[in-house]
Amino acid sequence: MSRLRTETRPAHDRIESVPFSMMMQEGKLPQSRFAAQMACWLTVHSQLEDAIAASETPACNVVWQSAMARTSHLRHDLACHGDVDMTASAATATMGVVTWIATLADQDPEALLGPLYVLEGSKLGGTILRKCLDEAYQCGPEALSYFWASGTSPMPDFKAFKERMESALPTKEQQDRVVAAASEMFDRLTDVLSGLIEGLDTETGRFLDEPAASSKGGCPLGFG
Ligand code: HEM
Repeated sequence: MSRLRTETRPAHDRIESVPFSMMMQEGKLPQSRFAAQMACWLTVHSQLEDAIAASETPACNVVWQSAMARTSHLRHDLACHGDVDMTASAATATMGVVTWIATLADQDPEALLGPLYVLEGSKLGGTILRKCLDEAYQCGPEALSYFWASGTSPMPDFKAFKERMESALPTKEQQDRVVAAASEMFDRLTDVLSGLIEGLDTETGRFLDEPAASSKGGCPLGFG
C-alpha cells in the first residue's frame, strides 16, 4: 500500500488538479456536468465491482467485500442532481475504461485490485469534495451519499482495506502489476474528467455558447 501511495502520487496530483477537479473545488462546475461525472463513475464502478465480485482469484476474494460497492449510492445521487449533460469524449473515455477492466478481468484478475484501490482511496479526498459540492448545489448530504459511503470518516474502512490488500499481495511481482493498473486507472479517469469540461469556460464555469451577461444592463435578447 505504501508503494501504491508513493508510485501513483504523480497521477493523483494530476487528477486532483485538472480543470474539472478545480472547478468542483471552487464551486464553479455546472451541476449537469457533475451529474455526468456520476453517470461515468456509475458505469466504471458497475464494471469493476461486478468483475471483482465474480472473480475466483484468491487475492480478489480476500480484498473484496460487498459492503464496498457504491453503485447504489451513485444511482441514488444521480436522481437528485437533475439533467445529465454527457459529452461525447467523456462517454468514449468511459467506454475505454470499461473495455480495459473487462480485459483485465479476463487476463489478469488480480490486477483489478489496482483500480479498486483508486476508487476506495478516492473516499479520502471525498471528505473535502462533499463540503464543496454541498455548498455549490445546496443539495444536502443525502444527495451526496457516494461521498458519505464510509460515514463521517473513511479512515477506519481504508485502514482495514489496506490490511487486506497487504495480506493478499505478498510478492513484488503481484504488486508491480497492481501498481501499474492503479496508475493506468488514474490516467484513464483523468481522461474522462478532461472530456467533461468540453464546451465550458474553465475560468467562469459558464458554457461557451451561453451569451455573456451584459454589464451595461442592455436588452437580454441583444437589441441594444
Ligand atoms: C478532486 C479533487 C481531489 C482532492 C482534493 C483529493 C484529495 C485527497 C486527499 C486529501 C487525500 C488524502 C491524502 C493523504 O492522506 O495524505 C487523497 C487520497 C487519495 N485520493 Fe484523492 N483527491 C481528489 C481526487 C481524487 C480522485 C478523482 C481520485 C480517484 C478517482 C482520488 C484517489 C485518491 C486515492 C487512491 C487516495 C489514497 C492515497 C493513499 O494511498 O493514501 N482522488 N485525496
